[in-house]
Amino acid sequence: MSATNTATPRRITIHDLQERKVRGERFAMLTSYDTLSAGVFEQAGVDVLLVGDSAANTVLGYPDTLSVTIDELLPLVRAVVRGTSRAMVVADLPFGSYQASPQHALDSAVRFMKEASAQAVKFEGGARVAEHVRTVVEAGIPVMAHIGFTPQSVHGLGGYRVQGRGDDADRILKDAHALQDAGAFAIVLEMVPAPLAARVTAELRIPTIGIGAGVDCDAQVLVWTDMAGLSTGRQPKFVKPYADLRETLLDAARRFADDVVSGRYPDDEHSYGG
Ligand code: KIV
Repeated sequence: MSATNTATPRRITIHDLQERKVRGERFAMLTSYDTLSAGVFEQAGVDVLLVGDSAANTVLGYPDTLSVTIDELLPLVRAVVRGTSRAMVVADLPFGSYQASPQHALDSAVRFMKEASAQAVKFEGGARVAEHVRTVVEAGIPVMAHIGFTPQSVHGLGGYRVQGRGDDADRILKDAHALQDAGAFAIVLEMVPAPLAARVTAELRIPTIGIGAGVDCDAQVLVWTDMAGLSTGRQPKFVKPYADLRETLLDAARRFADDVVSGRYPDDEHSYGG
């Protein structure tokens, strides 16, 4: 019998993230939609991978996040789970899959847990979805909340705009407390003024995860294609590209195509002898 340690690495849990908050240790989250990128991000030390409904834009080419369905997201969640062993994998509930009632939210959350082995779900909304959060959490499913600018409500919010400026700050604070009280284990704060996000972070026991919410959040998240410089079009102010993947891929694909057209590929080194 082998004496080697065969214990498989365990995944990050909501308790690990809670301890980070208590110890004042920040953590990183990225979106991920496929096995290979998920493995790379986990190896890089990204602790939480969100299979976001942003897959609507980045994977499926929809103009916004409203069209994507549970059935389209499930295979992506499965792929990210299969490509990782340590990261926490969070599944985003898409538009129209939870708003109707707490039971609606629970039914959709159960699908991601049962059919894709997600560890947690995320859905958008403040106090108005607090009962939904409570019902899902009471069923044993961890919920990450998402307030501030919530892309699924882009039309109701009148476009892509910072939330919580001036008197509106109170609404964000109340939403954050309502979600924490309902049992959310973390809250994404999207496009919220940095001083307000700092206040929410200081007042809450649970971690805040900022995206366009300043440096004082407990964690930060970006859509991975934005982070790596693959996305096209005008980027929001908060996006910092850490690579120029679009240029790198473009160059590789161009050189491949040129080599094929000119007969340089495959050469002897990449061909089988008789
Ligand atoms: O779907 C998504 O990518 C998200 C993050 C931007 C937080 O919700």
